Amino acid sequence: MILNVQLLLLLTLTVRTDGYDMYRVGECIWSSSDLTDVESIDTFYFNMGLWVQFNSTVGKFVGFTEYGVRIAENWNSLHLEQERAGLERYCKGNIPILTSTILDKTVEPKIRLRSEKQFSGGHTAMLMCSAYDFYPAAIDVYWLRDGKKVTSEVISTEELADGDWYYQVHSHLEYTPRSGEKISCVVEHASFSKPMTYNWDPSLPESERSKVIIGASGLVLGIILSAAGFIYYKKKSSGVL
Ligand SMILES: *[C@@H]1O[C@H](CO)[C@@H](O)[C@H](O)[C@H]1NC(C)=O
Repeated sequence: MILNVQLLLLLTLTVRTDGYDMYRVGECIWSSSDLTDVESIDTFYFNMGLWVQFNSTVGKFVGFTEYGVRIAENWNSLHLEQERAGLERYCKGNIPILTSTILDKTVEPKIRLRSEKQFSGGHTAMLMCSAYDFYPAAIDVYWLRDGKKVTSEVISTEELADGDWYYQVHSHLEYTPRSGEKISCVVEHASFSKPMTYNWDPSLPESERSKVIIGASGLVLGIILSAAGFIYYKKKSSGVL
């Protein structure tokens, strides 16, 4: 969703009498700052289904249901010029405002990926992917397991305001490790031009590894010393020394 820089206008028109609902979403999608590639999309939904859409690249309304097709034909003969001019004007008029108030002020999140529980046997493990100090608040943090999006066993916090215009968010993944699998945390944010992927490295972190090395060296030294002591004692008691 944040992949393309886009401006969203949401107009909701609800007819409640018989439970019918119609809503309309206007979008402007662009990627170059000189606004030469702005595409405007005006979509109409009816009872949650895609109904009619205007795409400025296509240049006309297209219907998606039998009735939608008839409506699109009707609108193409009645409202086409208005739609072409309106969304163009809307997009080109609002993009500079959005750019100067939000997009120019985006701050990239700092990402930290760590394990919360140590792996033990076949038990579950918990990973935490945290994003700190970003702006604005809208962000998407999700997990990939061997390239597939994980939908269950994920708990995420809301975007938490730090009180200084920056935000933080934390996502937890609880899973049973399988050998050879690849786990990644993906972050999408307006400050990034594409989704950023952070791969989990299941090998022990540096500090844990040095603890293991120190512990193992201590154990080996202890065995050598007690063996030496034991040999010394044996020899002494048998009268060799
Ligand atoms: C609009 O139409 C063009 C041309 O068919 C297409 O490439 C583009 O993806 C469409 N945009 C959207 C948002 O559907």
